[in-house]
Amino acid sequence: MTDAERRTALEAIAAEVRACTNCRLHEGRTRAVPGEGDPDTEVVFVGEGPGFNEDRLGRPFVGRAGDLLVKLLASIGWRREDVFITNVVKCRPPDNRDPQPDEIAACAPFLRRQLEALDPAVVVTLGRYSMARFMPGARISTAHGTVRPVDPSTGAASALAFAMYHPAAALRTPAIERESYADIAAVPAALIDARARREATAAEPAAAEPAVTVEPDPEPDPDVASMPVVAPGDEATPQLTLF
Ligand code: URA
Repeated sequence: MTDAERRTALEAIAAEVRACTNCRLHEGRTRAVPGEGDPDTEVVFVGEGPGFNEDRLGRPFVGRAGDLLVKLLASIGWRREDVFITNVVKCRPPDNRDPQPDEIAACAPFLRRQLEALDPAVVVTLGRYSMARFMPGARISTAHGTVRPVDPSTGAASALAFAMYHPAAALRTPAIERESYADIAAVPAALIDARARREATAAEPAAAEPAVTVEPDPEPDPDVASMPVVAPGDEATPQLTLF
């Protein structure tokens, strides 16, 4: 997909999201929140669903949780414009309640198509509902700060998922806030690892099977989930500063 095709695809998805009536959440929304960011990024952050401020502005993570996300990104030298930020559900659940399974299912094709267009190397999940999509069976208390290969059926054809607590949880609990800073510090290394995996997959013969498949895993395997330590090195890709 060319850059122009990617932009066109993302704009088309956003237009569909804004007009969507596929679940009950459209009834209470002021604005739908398709997501935003750099269409050429290698890293996509996926939160849960819009809150009060996001619903008013039609943009993701623009309230207090968004302020913390911006600070977390700044701690590794990134800006929100460098990545793409979206949510599992694109319309605000009433009173900020958790999204329900049928609402998540109704919205899933939008997220899948966004990921197909963006083809990220890393999907950073923010909170349990996002993590459940990319690391089925994982528990946030043990999975945060770890990576796992993403099932291509999510739309991300060749990506690592990196689990983080939701910034709103970090705002409530100082220990989680500290852990969130520690976790995000490992995202650049995950990106280096993800790039290497993609290059290795691209170098395989065309007829080869996909390099990675993910079995649903009720308990995260500490070996699989632990963050590989990759020395900083050949940053061939210019988009995101790694260190
Ligand atoms: N929380 C989320 O999960 N998403 C947003 O966009 C804002 C707050």
